[in-house]
Amino acid sequence: MRTSVRPIGSATFEAPPNIALVKYWGVRDPERVLPYNSSVSMTLGRLRTRTEVRFDPGLADDRVVLNDAPATGAPRAAVVAMLDRVRDRAGVDARAAVTSDNNFPTASGLASSASGFAALACAASAAAGLRLSDRERSRLARLGSGSASRSIFGGFVLWRAGTRTDGVDSYARTIFDERHWPALVDLVVLVEDAPVKAVRSSEAMQSTVRTSPDYPGRLEELPRRIDRIVRALRARDARRLFPLVMEECDSFRDVCETTRPPLDYLTAPSRAVLGEVRRMNREAGRPLAAYTHDAGAHVHVFTLEGNLARLRARLGRLPGVRSTLVVRPGPGALQVGRPRSRR
Ligand code: DP6
Repeated sequence: MRTSVRPIGSATFEAPPNIALVKYWGVRDPERVLPYNSSVSMTLGRLRTRTEVRFDPGLADDRVVLNDAPATGAPRAAVVAMLDRVRDRAGVDARAAVTSDNNFPTASGLASSASGFAALACAASAAAGLRLSDRERSRLARLGSGSASRSIFGGFVLWRAGTRTDGVDSYARTIFDERHWPALVDLVVLVEDAPVKAVRSSEAMQSTVRTSPDYPGRLEELPRRIDRIVRALRARDARRLFPLVMEECDSFRDVCETTRPPLDYLTAPSRAVLGEVRRMNREAGRPLAAYTHDAGAHVHVFTLEGNLARLRARLGRLPGVRSTLVVRPGPGALQVGRPRSRR
């Protein structure tokens, strides 16, 4: 779809990673990246991927440099596939030079594919002269990495699974912006020796769909859980939200562990963090914090500002914990050197 034609050139965008409160796990259409279930995330402030795309008729081939190293193999192919989608829509033939850098460790379990494909979708479409709405950017980013559909937006984000076979109704939007709940923080607990993800989540999730006996039950309970999580977020009610976030994380981990062969993303230190959060909640007699994790060993611990110091001291002391990082809800993708584009 050609929205408008402007001179082709270059564009730079920054996009954030996000942490899922309700996980995207399983697609009904792998080609169009159409999920079985809707998902909810918080956009992570401070952490950004910055991507520049420059279409250059003088280039014989696409040049892709990720974190100062020329990309090869599957990562390069995924970037080129996104460029091809954009070239197709914009009617552009030129090859592109792509440079992308994270201000956080890649493959650290901090969802660099979400921020990476969100920044790439925005930068490539703008450089090709397409003026896309945020909704269109979300759909485009989704084709690179499902979770990237949410990284276009700031604050708390809902990606509706949609029901259409063409995917037009499968995109994300902000449900509460980044100023909605200033007291809520995400303490990211980085563990030592976190294994680098060998298989992309988009592949791993399909073996869960095929083999986990618990997957259908999870899908059945998700609409109700999503509804309750959205209501707890709206009410800024940590007592209701935290148990639900852990219930969802446990459900995600259960379908991973009952996948054949099992998917085990946690290490001993990550499990110790989960155990310590449970213990602290028991000691306090109320939900002080909530753990969650994606397909990686690092753990995100949600808490309220007032509990942060106590939690940080206890979790930071656990054996195998490398460091902790305090992250707050942040804005979505932004063009560098320009005010936020109007929708
Ligand atoms: C567990 O959309 O990031 O983080 O790009 O193939 O890695 P790949 O898949 P991606 O899968 C995300 C899975 C998850 C849950 C979530 O973010 O909703």
